[in-house]
Amino acid sequence: MKRALGVCYYPEHWPEEMWAQDAVNMVEAGISWVRIGEFAWSRLEPKEGLFEFDWLDRAIATLADAGLKVVLGTPSATPPRWMVEKYPKMLAIDDQGRPRMFGSRRHYCHSHAGYCDAAAVMARRLGKRYGRDGRIAAWQIDNEYGCHDTVLSFSDAARDAFRNWLAQQYQSIDALNRAWGNVFWSMEYANFEQIELPLLTVTEPNPAHVLAFRRFASDQVVAWNAAQVRVLRPLTDAPLIHNYMGRVTEFDHFALARDLDIASWDSYPIGFLSDRLEGDALHKARYLHQGDPDMQAFHHDLYRSLNGGRWWVMEQQPGPVNWAPYNPAPMPGMVRLWSWEAFAHGAEVVSYFRWRQVPFGQEQMHAGLRYPDDTVAPGLEEVRQVAEELAGMPEVVPAQAPVALIFDYASDWTWKTLPQGADFDYFRLVFEAYRALRRQGLSVDILPPDVADLKDYRIILAPGLAQVSDALQERMTGSSARCLVGPRANQVTPDLSLTVPMGPNLENLDVTVRRVESLPPGTKRPVEDGGAVVHWAEHLDGTADVQLADYDGRAVLVGSGSIRYLGGWPDPALWERIIGALAEEAELKLTPVPQGLRLRDTGSHRFAFNYAPEPVIWEGHELPPAGVAWWPLP
Ligand code: GAL
Repeated sequence: MKRALGVCYYPEHWPEEMWAQDAVNMVEAGISWVRIGEFAWSRLEPKEGLFEFDWLDRAIATLADAGLKVVLGTPSATPPRWMVEKYPKMLAIDDQGRPRMFGSRRHYCHSHAGYCDAAAVMARRLGKRYGRDGRIAAWQIDNEYGCHDTVLSFSDAARDAFRNWLAQQYQSIDALNRAWGNVFWSMEYANFEQIELPLLTVTEPNPAHVLAFRRFASDQVVAWNAAQVRVLRPLTDAPLIHNYMGRVTEFDHFALARDLDIASWDSYPIGFLSDRLEGDALHKARYLHQGDPDMQAFHHDLYRSLNGGRWWVMEQQPGPVNWAPYNPAPMPGMVRLWSWEAFAHGAEVVSYFRWRQVPFGQEQMHAGLRYPDDTVAPGLEEVRQVAEELAGMPEVVPAQAPVALIFDYASDWTWKTLPQGADFDYFRLVFEAYRALRRQGLSVDILPPDVADLKDYRIILAPGLAQVSDALQERMTGSSARCLVGPRANQVTPDLSLTVPMGPNLENLDVTVRRVESLPPGTKRPVEDGGAVVHWAEHLDGTADVQLADYDGRAVLVGSGSIRYLGGWPDPALWERIIGALAEEAELKLTPVPQGLRLRDTGSHRFAFNYAPEPVIWEGHELPPAGVAWWPLP
């Protein structure tokens, strides 16, 4: 697979006279893909039924004539004003019952059938006009589902659809009452029509109700996307793509991806460090101009598994963004590093957002590869360098990693619904495990819990996985890997009531959880000989071998066969010990790396990326800050 560069471009933002030179400049910089159209509804259909595609025809022709392949977006993330007038009830409603008004984007509820149909009609129009046009080499459907907190909507349309969904799931109201335990606080219903959305209750709503609503909301996003897929599929052979976001967990990306061909995501490392990652002030200061050393790779590894290894970075940060609380500029070299990191993790295309900084609208302070006056911004120089390096680089051959980390969206909803401690966050738990693995120089595949094959892994971790199915247990024990599940494995049913006894119900492992504690920040349960349990601690019972215990003699890690149970949330030192022990048994060599250095092995090369603000010498290679090196694997 040939790796390539792309860029996001908005012809409707610029005078038509500029398009041709822009296209030439893109090609000259080594860019071969250009994404357009995803927010252009008000120009494609300025009034209901009045379609204006001529300008888009000309834009496509201009870009393609210069040699660019076009990704065409469907514009459903930006319904125009007339659409909202036509369907006032299409607006999403927040958890305070307030409409999310027109005036930005993503102002729609995934359950509103009228708008969903209108979006599909627009997709059909585009598909009919461009579906067989060879210049359109891929499609992007909508833009960043879930961004701006847009999965959960408490609208009337959502309520009606939720009732139908519940009726299908439970078949009878008695079954729902039983499954939710509605006898508690006299919450029993006589029919599905009585069920409201879980908002504005006096105190917390029934967690079973909330979790059902979250599952429903995820299904609605999947169905929304599928509606456009249904109309586009017969009209085009070009791949269908969506651009996911970082740390958006409210819908099941694995489920949605089944309808698509290629996964992609939008990588804003410095924005993410500041607006969606935990970490103390020292960590944030150290990586201020680089982004967190694991955040990008985590999403590369996660999204790689959505469509059988086919994935892109659809939007790559090219300079300072505008939307985080603070927006520092990337350290020189970071645009190149992020690009190479994506390729090393298997990306087919890295596409930069955006071509030129636009001097109006919400993102006027967001960098582009060119300044608003069309002079070259620093990011573009690095793009050129990547293009040259790509041309001289032998094929990056994908390879299975030695470690699998299981990621499950439903577990995130489960623990958001029943946290039992203010900082029990599933993403954070899995991310810390990922970081700990990478601190040991390991490459990681992030996989869904229903993954078909785990055979050749050496270590498999499933931290915080709410439901460890029998099938997953079989696949784990059937592999040659050392496996770890817990904390909170099988402690609740999928309907969110406690299992009795409280998990983890593992084959050949006599362990049960008697009670659990959540621990506030700054407190911990130190473990004998090093490391500690933080945030979450379980009291375990049973005869399983105790591998690690705290100073009160309470078991923290148990089991001696291929599956271990972890009864707490490890701090970094404890993760290091656990991974060390599993690796030793699995005869997997660890390569502890200096702070901020990260490695990634492909089938042919080892890549090293220096996120640290100081130079690092590693295996004979000198890496300055933001340095990248690669060498053939022996
Ligand atoms: C992304 C979005 C783009 C643009 C960009 C700015 O989340 O898809 O349209 O808003 O952020 O960083």
